[in-house]
Amino acid sequence: MRRLAGGVALVTARDDWRRYGMPMTAVMSLCMEPPSLVMAVNRSASIFQPLHAGRAFCVNLLKHHSAEMCQTFSSLPSEERFSVGQWGEGPHRTPYLLDAQAAIFCDSGPIHDFGTHSLIIGLVSDAWVDEHISPLIHLDGRYMATEERSDRTER
Ligand SMILES: Cc1cc2nc3c(=O)[nH]c(=O)nc-3n(C[C@H](O)[C@H](O)[C@H](O)COP(=O)(O)O)c2cc1C
Repeated sequence: MRRLAGGVALVTARDDWRRYGMPMTAVMSLCMEPPSLVMAVNRSASIFQPLHAGRAFCVNLLKHHSAEMCQTFSSLPSEERFSVGQWGEGPHRTPYLLDAQAAIFCDSGPIHDFGTHSLIIGLVSDAWVDEHISPLIHLDGRYMATEERSDRTER
């Protein structure tokens, strides 16, 4: 799987007390009817608790210059992670990264446990997309950028 290149997302959520966030590559689109995605979340991760409780969440697709945020979000205590980056509040006050490639807001859908992880389906409620295409890629344990593009070829 280290040979599988993946776009890096910072998935964020909140409960009544604090914000949560973690870097993820195991995120994929699911279908358009209804608009949905699925992600594999380790049940030991701190964000699993609000996700399991049915909280809304945001899949922030990172830009190529945001690799350092992954380090911050993998090491600092939950709320301190948000000292890096500029954050807005989306539906249900879900934190989203202002400088993301895209911010995809989801309501909680079905959850399926397998092994150490849970597959969590997100029902997309809204999305914000940056025109400039320059995603952060993770491959073989390293971060890299794709060639920058500003043209749009969207489906
Ligand atoms: C680039 C990258 C991708 C990751 N992808 C996933 C993933 O898809 N699913 C997952 O459960 N953990 C993934 N992780 C690990 C979690 O981000 C990490 O374990 C998290 O910090 C643990 O959560 P906690 O410190 O909030 O408890 C990834 C980490 C990195 C650096």
